[in-house]
Amino acid sequence: MMNPFQHGVVVSGNDFCPRPELLRELCGHIEARQNCVIRGGRRMGKTSAVLEAIRSRRKAGCVLVNCWGKTSPAGLAEAIAEAFLAYQSRRGLSLKRILGGFAHLRPQATVDPQTGQPSFTVDLAGGRKFPPKSLEHVLDPIGEEGGRHPLVVVFDEFQALMRMEEHEAVIATLRGAIQLQPQVTYFYLGSVRNLMDALFNDPRQPFFKSAASVSVGPIERVSYSAYLREKFFTDRRRASDGALSMIFDMACDTTGDVQQLCSAIWNCTEAGQKIGEDDVRRGLARIHQTENESNTRIIDILTPGQVKVLVGLARVGGSQPTSKTFLQASGVSQPSSVTKAISRLEREGLIFRDPQGYQFFSPFFRTWLLSVGPSGSGSPGR
Ligand SMILES: Nc1ncnc2c1ncn2[C@@H]1O[C@H](COP(=O)(O)OP(=O)(O)O)[C@@H](O)[C@H]1O
Ligand SMILES: [Mg+2]
Repeated sequence: MMNPFQHGVVVSGNDFCPRPELLRELCGHIEARQNCVIRGGRRMGKTSAVLEAIRSRRKAGCVLVNCWGKTSPAGLAEAIAEAFLAYQSRRGLSLKRILGGFAHLRPQATVDPQTGQPSFTVDLAGGRKFPPKSLEHVLDPIGEEGGRHPLVVVFDEFQALMRMEEHEAVIATLRGAIQLQPQVTYFYLGSVRNLMDALFNDPRQPFFKSAASVSVGPIERVSYSAYLREKFFTDRRRASDGALSMIFDMACDTTGDVQQLCSAIWNCTEAGQKIGEDDVRRGLARIHQTENESNTRIIDILTPGQVKVLVGLARVGGSQPTSKTFLQASGVSQPSSVTKAISRLEREGLIFRDPQGYQFFSPFFRTWLLSVGPSGSGSPGR
């Protein structure tokens, strides 16, 4: 029996636990051609929900641009052009017409032997300098297409653009061009909260108040439980209430982490079995085991003092990291060392700050830390 729990990929159809309220909100915006900023923690299900919403409006087309790792205006422009060509081909335009119609982009097509779907690479700059202003031209055909068909352009991981050297010019150019395309719906997805806030909540920024705001939080436990129960039941495994609530607790209600834990539990249980809290613990141990090596590598780049603070955060939480309790629990003597360590841990992407204090980016990294070492000193990886 196939493991029914997908994780680490965008999910759709049967693998998508229904989120009717969120989908209704997103569909309403698509209908109204309302540009939106869509925020939420990593692995909460932003990309999956947005693509599912667009898919459910049968007439709407989707141009999906992943901004992650785009380090130059040319790289971003190429990603936009490639996404647009892929959209054209999904709409049924022949390869010949696509390659001919966009010859100036020097497109190359590769056809996936499994699906028969082509994907495209383009070369925009051709080794020459590509000024940010030229991004306008890449958005032109999208505007024209949007005049003919309902079209949603999804900029995924939009906050990554802030890391680009020329980000100010890039963002101003995008904003200028998008403003002239009311017929197209633009969705900006982002997970690093302070960067997204800097883009959309700062009056000095071109995108300030330019979009409606949608937030993607956890799926409610009641409906998620029903979905998970049904998945476990594909070969008559019965998940107990206690097991399910433990899964949500361990995964901090983060959608992708819930799926990962369920997948691990599936792998260490059998058809027809009743699944209890012990099985959840075994699933978690299995995750710790598979992630041990990469987690150890993370620990190795930190100083012993930073590791102490990290373990302290795992043990007592990050609401008051400079309090006496915290210093005692982590074995660090100076509040100022904690502050310094925390900023390193934040820079490394291990923790982030929210209104409740500092949190781990990955709940299983936290539980791994707790499982490998009682030591507040030295590396818990060894
Ligand atoms: N509606 C859903 N039903 C079931 N699993 C989901 C759902 N949404 C997300 N997931 C799980 O979460 C993981 C991350 O989803 P993704 O959409 O990539 O999140 P994000 O874009 O917020 O990082 C997926 O790989 C999948 O395991
Ligand atoms: Mg995503």
